[in-house]
Amino acid sequence: MKKKVAVLFGGVSPEHEVSLISGQAVIDNLNKDLFDVSPVIISKKGEFDEEKVKSADFIFPVLHGIGGEDGTMQLYLEELGKPYAGCGSKSSAVALDKILSKGIWQNHNLPIPSFTYFNKDEWVKNKEEIIKKISLPGFIKPFNTGSSLGISKVKTKEEIISAVNEAFKICDKIIAEESIENIREIEVGIVGNNELIISKPGEVVPCEEFYTFDAKYKGNSKIIIPAEISSVKVTEIRELAEKAYNALECRGFARVDLFMQKPEGKIFLNEINTIPGFTQFSMFPKLMENSGINFERLLNKIIELGLENAKI
Ligand SMILES: Nc1ncnc2c1ncn2[C@@H]1O[C@H](COP(=O)(O)OP(=O)(O)O)[C@@H](O)[C@H]1O
Ligand SMILES: [Mg+2]
Repeated sequence: MKKKVAVLFGGVSPEHEVSLISGQAVIDNLNKDLFDVSPVIISKKGEFDEEKVKSADFIFPVLHGIGGEDGTMQLYLEELGKPYAGCGSKSSAVALDKILSKGIWQNHNLPIPSFTYFNKDEWVKNKEEIIKKISLPGFIKPFNTGSSLGISKVKTKEEIISAVNEAFKICDKIIAEESIENIREIEVGIVGNNELIISKPGEVVPCEEFYTFDAKYKGNSKIIIPAEISSVKVTEIRELAEKAYNALECRGFARVDLFMQKPEGKIFLNEINTIPGFTQFSMFPKLMENSGINFERLLNKIIELGLENAKI
């Protein structure tokens, strides 16, 4: 009997449209001889056909950002007792939270940009003190968004204030990081629960000053797979990606994003995306393809790993 797989896509986050494209690519590439595929679109208000989810044997969330990648959907699926693809509710929540994830990596002595964080109340009460703690140039980010939404690079005190106001339109907690200058943006795909398949690093060359929303989806940013990096450095990057994945107790799959100072200097962890872009053109499936796992096999493997997780 074919397994009934419900693919969840869309969702309440501002990355709804991106998720629609990712979800459709997953639907198109699932092997229809093995799986009976049931598409479940989640509206921007969060409405979806719960019966389709309850009647499925396996759930594949292809949701980006809050409400889908942040552990809330994963917790709902855990409560339903449904096996699903990817990281569990706890590690999903931690990975989407740029403050918590960086805090954990810091505790593991993994290299990250220095950072500080604050909420709206603290900002209103201690603006001057907080500004003093922010490194310049720096990055001001909402603590839990994706696709670079609400993120600004700041070079002056005045820019900090307007960037903080922008970020507070999205959420009520902000992380401010030192800007790592002169970087190459490196991404590594990982698939596995205990035994991990770790891709070679790929490189993103943003068409703007940094990898903004427009540079991700509208511009001419380039993806280079595998990145042109010496084998010694490749080993260092893959080992660091593995440590970052394990430190957050990731399961199933994820994409680890890092910065490397040019040309092959110091490496910093940036973030883990527990549900990375899944379109035909996205880095994650392309990295795994470069490791000899085509899109269809990748999806089979992710489902196998999700079923294995559910047994624990
Ligand atoms: N500390 C930093 N130093 C240098 N560039 C950064 C830093 N933080 C973010 N960036 C730039 O901003 C982009 C988006 O930041 P990121 O934290 O990855 O947000 P998102 O989760 O929205 O992808 C990065 O891909 C990079 O181009
Ligand atoms: Mg990013």
